[in-house]
Amino acid sequence: MNIQKFFTVSLFATALLSHSFVHAQKKSDLVVKINTPVADIQPTMWGVFFEDINLGADGGIYAELVKNRSFEFFKPLMGWKVDQQPFKEGAVTVLNRQGSNLANPRFIRVSLNNAVKGNLSMTNEGFRGMGIKKDLRYDFSFMYRQAATGIIIHAELINAKNEIIGSAATSPAGAGEDWKKQSVSFHSAATESKAQLRIWFEGTGVIDMDMISLFPEDTWKKRPGGMRADMIQLLADMKPGFIRFPGGCIVEGFDLSQRYQWKKTLGPVEDRQLLINRWNFEFAHRPTPDYFQTFGLGFFEYFQLAEDIGAEPLPILNCGMACQFNSAELVPVDKLDPYVQDALDLIEFANGDANSTWGKVRSAMGHPAPFNLKMMGVGNENWGPQYVERLKIFQKAIKGKYPEFKLVTSSGTDPNGDRFDSLNVALRSIKADIIDEHYYRKPEWFLANAKRYDNYPRNESKIFGGEYAAQSDKTVSIDNKNNWLTAISEAAFMTGLERNAGVVSMASYAPLFAHIDGWQWTPDLIWVDNLRSYGTTDYYVQKLFSTNKGSKVVPITLNNEVIAGQDSLYASACTDIATNELIIKIVNASAKEQSNTLSLDGAKNLGKEGKLIILQTNDLNAVNSFDQPNFVSPKESTIAIKGKKINLISQPYSFSVIRVKI
Ligand code: AHR
Repeated sequence: MNIQKFFTVSLFATALLSHSFVHAQKKSDLVVKINTPVADIQPTMWGVFFEDINLGADGGIYAELVKNRSFEFFKPLMGWKVDQQPFKEGAVTVLNRQGSNLANPRFIRVSLNNAVKGNLSMTNEGFRGMGIKKDLRYDFSFMYRQAATGIIIHAELINAKNEIIGSAATSPAGAGEDWKKQSVSFHSAATESKAQLRIWFEGTGVIDMDMISLFPEDTWKKRPGGMRADMIQLLADMKPGFIRFPGGCIVEGFDLSQRYQWKKTLGPVEDRQLLINRWNFEFAHRPTPDYFQTFGLGFFEYFQLAEDIGAEPLPILNCGMACQFNSAELVPVDKLDPYVQDALDLIEFANGDANSTWGKVRSAMGHPAPFNLKMMGVGNENWGPQYVERLKIFQKAIKGKYPEFKLVTSSGTDPNGDRFDSLNVALRSIKADIIDEHYYRKPEWFLANAKRYDNYPRNESKIFGGEYAAQSDKTVSIDNKNNWLTAISEAAFMTGLERNAGVVSMASYAPLFAHIDGWQWTPDLIWVDNLRSYGTTDYYVQKLFSTNKGSKVVPITLNNEVIAGQDSLYASACTDIATNELIIKIVNASAKEQSNTLSLDGAKNLGKEGKLIILQTNDLNAVNSFDQPNFVSPKESTIAIKGKKINLISQPYSFSVIRVKI
């Protein structure tokens, strides 16, 4: 069914069903009971889900520009082109010091004989090119060892026309058996989205090289070797309550050898063992053979990022099970100890005293103060009795040591069906703190499920809507779009999450980032290329909820019923203790303008106007893009208050947020 028709049909059906009280509804006010709080909204309510998918980390938020800097990809020279004139075998060879360095065994050996410009160069193509900015400083570095000094190494940035737009030269000054680091910085004379890095050599001798790297100066907080600031800024602007990390299926791995292991992501980057990214080969229709995890963005950087932007960290750990869509490999329960120990050690790494074993590691990395980790997920999309059996072991060990620590538990891949039902019973029977539900569904599902949590038990496990996104086509389809239809249906559903904040304590859209030239999965919240980034329609919905969070849910009704589809309206309301405001969110999912009176019961001395923020377009197919990043974006104005009433005109297909000082 086409999307305009979908809404017309559902509106018509709603109208028919409620024919007897249509007239009454039109006369009715939307009634908000300001002084009747029904639930607290957790500070964590709206967060973000980060996974290294779609070049989210390497080639994305991690600002390293050189691909395969350590020659550890399966093909050691993938991403590099060696050019030698005249050709002579063996000028660049790949060697392996496996015995002495298990984490980063390979390096290259460059043998030179009177080399001059044009003899021998190595060009790195970057991650779908390199995004380079005019007048910005770039830091070129590498590790090396050589028997004698004298070789000069030149680094050049070249644009798509093969012109040099920035260059530097350096002569490594050390000699001997030890590996050393050499750095040189230079500025770019031009902006280029598909630049490459060419290195050429001058002199005679042999030099071993590894960790050949190029970073821009303008990383987030200007941290050397840091993250892409524009991408983080989009996250920071959302003021997320938490960051879920590192996924996602990446937690599980194709098999257990490829699972995510946080301990391997700490310390100097040259010691972080590279791992194939599961999204390298997951989808035959979107193969990405050059997708590996360098872990330059590792667990320390993750905790630091969460702290930077005021979000609670929510790490997800492997529970002794590999992806059940792939190998489904299991750790026998009597061999689960190292996995459980990883979880306990992570808590110590985050929170332990700087003298504790893992607190010391954190402190040595530059953060003596604890990160104050309060929760953790055990398993990603795992299911079956094998999951519950393993979860119980984690639960016993973690709660035994840290009784207040909260555990997020998996309800599998889908929000209904046998797997979900049996897990839901099992998890509640072991008094799971928080159950993680995932919904990758059509927009219709989101509209139809705005009341999903209205009857969930209040005093049992809390719910985490840990991964969700409306699919304009279907899950895993390459035709999915981040259009206004997906976003408005998520907004409608999210009013249901907010109304049920007494049981839903967290929610996050997924996935978060996608590179336009390197994605595997769509839709995604934020799209980037090498220089630009923009928030989708869905991003602005998330941002509006998150930045208008409030602290207490208050009732908003139409004809004494929650507003979850009557006349295609969806609404929630809350008060914010900190700012002393009432915040009302209303989605009009119909093609017609609707006029409603908001009756603010219990209000005293309201001012004359409130703030109105509208996200709207008449076109359900509308999308944001690199050229029109704000095509669908919030517009702010004021709205008049008359006594205790507000006349609200809801535009067709609109999401409105109203803030009133109370
Ligand atoms: O968000 C993309 C994937 O969807 C996640 O990795 C996984 O948890 C889910 O199936």
